[in-house]
Amino acid sequence: MIEKASMNEIMKESPSKEETSFSSFVVDVRNLAKRYGDFAAVNDLTLQVKKGEIFGFLGHNGAGKTTTINMLTTLLEPSSGSGKVAGYDIINESLEVRRRIGYLPENVQFYDSMTAYENLEYFAKLSGIKKPDSQIWEVLDFLDARSYADKKISALSKGMRQRIGIAQAIIHEPEILFLDEPTTGLDPFGVKQLRDIILRLNSQKGITIFMNTHLLQEVTKTCSTIGVLNHGSLIYLDSLSNTMKRFKDEGSLEDIYLNIENNEEE
Ligand SMILES: Nc1ncnc2c1ncn2[C@@H]1O[C@H](COP(=O)(O)OP(=O)(O)OP(=O)(O)O)[C@@H](O)[C@H]1O
Ligand SMILES: [Mg+2]
Repeated sequence: MIEKASMNEIMKESPSKEETSFSSFVVDVRNLAKRYGDFAAVNDLTLQVKKGEIFGFLGHNGAGKTTTINMLTTLLEPSSGSGKVAGYDIINESLEVRRRIGYLPENVQFYDSMTAYENLEYFAKLSGIKKPDSQIWEVLDFLDARSYADKKISALSKGMRQRIGIAQAIIHEPEILFLDEPTTGLDPFGVKQLRDIILRLNSQKGITIFMNTHLLQEVTKTCSTIGVLNHGSLIYLDSLSNTMKRFKDEGSLEDIYLNIENNEEE
């Protein structure tokens, strides 16, 4: 198995140079596990993500990526372990966590017969924003989606719906945005647009990103740190720059990914 990089190493190489005090971790989980009977969907996960990072969480189908995000976003109670997201305990302070995070699930659910604006207004009010109008337009402008406002959700393409999904996830200005396989179903142009949005959310709004993905290319183009999950266990964690240095002879990140998986299974 390829040696798991030490936390110190990651901190050294992390692109953000701010001090590594405890509060600079937006995600800080220890020995997190989710078991279904004897089966461990996520096993002994210890992971820290620093403020300002774009974290790419790679793993095969069924590796436990969605289960992890569901625990971090407080939708699923861990079987054991502990963790803080945005400085609050994911088990005992779930409401505080929810106020500070955004989540774009793999299949975003909307009210199809309502317009994009009406959906955003509805969800913004649910999250406690009393007069969301100015925030809705600000977010739609940021995402270049003003023209979708009066369209019914049922009339929007996959890419457009997803942009409204991002609008919904960031309207309350979260500290961290969780994205579960955000590129699924998008064409190459849509993937590129999404990548630009993620980079701008990070650089202009200062939102830390936690992204589950299968697309290795996306990780090299978007992420500052990568983790690889294999059958519920974290088998690799390092900055992208370190990863590219460490595996420079292997040509592509795909080789790196497959190499990690093969080594783990030997
Ligand atoms: N409610 C459940 N009951 C039993 N097993 C479950 C449940 N939810 C998830 N699992 C199992 O946990 C494992 C991890 O699932 P998860 O959805 O987290 O994987 P994933 O990495 O997101 O996969 P994918 O890339 O296909 O989305 C899978 O084997 C899945 O079948
Ligand atoms: Mg999943």
